[in-house]
Amino acid sequence: MTNKKFLDFSQKISYVAGEIQKESYGKTGLRIEHKGRTDIVTEVDIKCEKAIIDSIVSEYPNHGILAEEGGGKKSDGEYLWIIDPLDGTTNYAHGFPIFCVSVALACNGQVIAGSVYDPLRDEMFSAALGEGATLNGNPIKVTVAAKMEEALIATGFPYDVKTNPKNNIDNFKRVVMECQAVRRPGSAAIDLVYVACGRVDAFWEQRLKPWDMAAGQLIVSEAGGTVTDMKGEQLDLYGETICVANATLHPQLLALLED
Ligand code: IPD
Ligand code: CA
Ligand code: CA
Repeated sequence: MTNKKFLDFSQKISYVAGEIQKESYGKTGLRIEHKGRTDIVTEVDIKCEKAIIDSIVSEYPNHGILAEEGGGKKSDGEYLWIIDPLDGTTNYAHGFPIFCVSVALACNGQVIAGSVYDPLRDEMFSAALGEGATLNGNPIKVTVAAKMEEALIATGFPYDVKTNPKNNIDNFKRVVMECQAVRRPGSAAIDLVYVACGRVDAFWEQRLKPWDMAAGQLIVSEAGGTVTDMKGEQLDLYGETICVANATLHPQLLALLED
C-alpha cells in the first residue's frame, strides 16, 4: 500500500514534467549547453528537474534526491528519489519523438516504485515492487521470444563512443549478426519499458547512470523479465551496465556481450 502511494506520487510528478516537455517540443531557439563534446543539456531538462524536485521537497522534505542535472539533495534517511528529468535529450533537441521522464524511489538501496512517462504518446509505464508492471493501468509482460533470430533488440552507445575503445561497437556487430534486428532509440528508459511491454525482446547498454536505469529496470523485472548487469550478475544501479530480456533469451544475449 505504501509503495502504491509513492507510485501515485511518482506518476503525478512525471505527468507535470511531461507537460513541460510537450510545451517546448519542436520549438526553435531552445537554449542548449554542452556537458561534453556530444552530451547536451537543454533548458527543458533543467525546468523539468526543478519542477520534480520542488514537488518532492514539499511532499517529502526528509527524502534524498539524486537527479541528473545536479539539483538533488543528500539525506541520511532511508528514501532516495532517482530522477532523469528528460531521458533522450539528444532526440528532444532534434525533434526526434522518443524521450521521457523517469522517476524512481529507492528504500535502503532497493527500488520500490518507478514510472517512465512518454508525453507525446501519453504512455505511463509504472511498477511498484511485488505488484507487477502496467502501461496506462493495464498489466504488461515481456515477450516469450526464444531464439536470437526472432528477437528485436535495443541498445545504445555512450557519449564517449568516439574516444573510449569500450564503446559497444563490437557488441553491436556480434548481436546484429545473430538477432532479427537491432534498434538504437536514444532513450535508455524507453528501451527498458519497451522490453517490459514486449515492443522489443531485449536491451543492453554500458556506461549508463542510475537515473537512466532505476525506474525502467523495476518495470522490466515486474513485467517478468530477467535484469542483470552485462556480466550476468545482479544489477548494480551504480555499476553502469545492464542486460534485460525474458529468461530464455537473456543467456543467449549475454553470451554475445563483452563488458
Ligand atoms: C541518454 C539516453 C541514451 C543513452 C545514453 C544516456 P540522456 O540519456 O538514455 O539512450 O544511450 O547513454 O545518457 O542524456 O538523454 O538523459
Ligand atoms: Ca538519461
Ligand atoms: Ca537526462
